[in-house]
Amino acid sequence: MRISTGPLTSPEIAYDISTAVERHEWPDIPVISRTNFLAVFDNPPPGQTRERYLGYLDGKPVGFLVLRFPELDNVENVEIALQVRPECRRQGVGRALFDLAVERARARGRKHVQGETVDRHPGGRAFAQSVGARAGLSEVRSRLDLTTLDEPRLAELMDDAWKHAEGYRLKRWVGVPPDDVIDGVAYLESRMNADAPIGDMNWEPERMDAERIRQAEQARARRGRIGYQAGALIGDRLAAWTYIGSDVDEPAHAWQSTTIVDPDHRGHRLGLLVKIHNLAHVRELKPSLQMIDTFNAAENTFMIRVNQEMGFRAVDALIDWQVDL
Ligand SMILES: CC(C)(COP(=O)(O)OP(=O)(O)OC[C@H]1O[C@@H](n2cnc3c(N)ncnc32)[C@H](O)[C@@H]1OP(=O)(O)O)[C@@H](O)C(=O)NCCC(=O)NCCS
Repeated sequence: MRISTGPLTSPEIAYDISTAVERHEWPDIPVISRTNFLAVFDNPPPGQTRERYLGYLDGKPVGFLVLRFPELDNVENVEIALQVRPECRRQGVGRALFDLAVERARARGRKHVQGETVDRHPGGRAFAQSVGARAGLSEVRSRLDLTTLDEPRLAELMDDAWKHAEGYRLKRWVGVPPDDVIDGVAYLESRMNADAPIGDMNWEPERMDAERIRQAEQARARRGRIGYQAGALIGDRLAAWTYIGSDVDEPAHAWQSTTIVDPDHRGHRLGLLVKIHNLAHVRELKPSLQMIDTFNAAENTFMIRVNQEMGFRAVDALIDWQVDL
């Protein structure tokens, strides 16, 4: 078997490899549409550059590598996504692409190569260990099944939460946050980056401001992703914020991402309030939705408990890895 690597020649090839791997790694998550996948190429998040490569087995492309280089902060890091077609594994393509990732990381002055593997198949973990990576953070993926949602329970949780949240009001929006909350969103997103558990990963809080939030959201929209959001305000101050993202081409599935309560406003059940409010929001605007997945650091017991109260159930475990160069 002859192994080689080279720059990505066509996004279409990347789509075919990537979706074959995704189907295998995440069989319960619908794969991204070709349109949404291709749109990422021209619309990366602000403050990030990417390089993409293919790995070949006897001249046939079977592996795909993406390197994401943060440019505004975390400039010593590079995140990699390395995928090899399931039927072409254990022949050295993964290793060849990893060696290339290290070479590119060094060439661009990066000191930490970071990646993640899912525990569903043992290969990812074995591979990470074989290249000398160390486990930095354990994560759990949990799922909320909207077809069996316990609505009376959610209403009860909401009523109970309000008893602790006197004086706060809820607000919802889609996409770029409106002017009255965008600075608050930037502040909370910075806090999120500072407060969320990161285990032993080398990661500095991303610096956020209204303009970066706006650009990130505009880039997401161009990638075909809609951000459904809700916040809790007291006076004109945003005290909590939560985000659900879903691709326009994807009818059934969405991702619950950031939820953050300002440290000055914790203890008022605002996390639960904004999450349940936003769940109603997304279901109203996207009635075809059937499932929402979310990732949490395994040590983030507070957020996991909130999720479990809402009906989220753990379905998968992940590990974030790091190789220090
Ligand atoms: C991880 C992945 C990229 C490895 O690709 P690959 O082409 O099979 O990797 P290689 O053949 O170069 O394997 C290199 C070494 O990793 C280890 N390894 C890889 N898969 C393994 C498995 N299933 N069981 C045990 N060891 C394994 C072995 O030590 C192997 O060397 P060996 O075959 O000489 O024993 C591939 O399994 C994949 O696409 N997984 C899903 C995505 C992922 O987890 N990516 C990694 C993090 S970004």
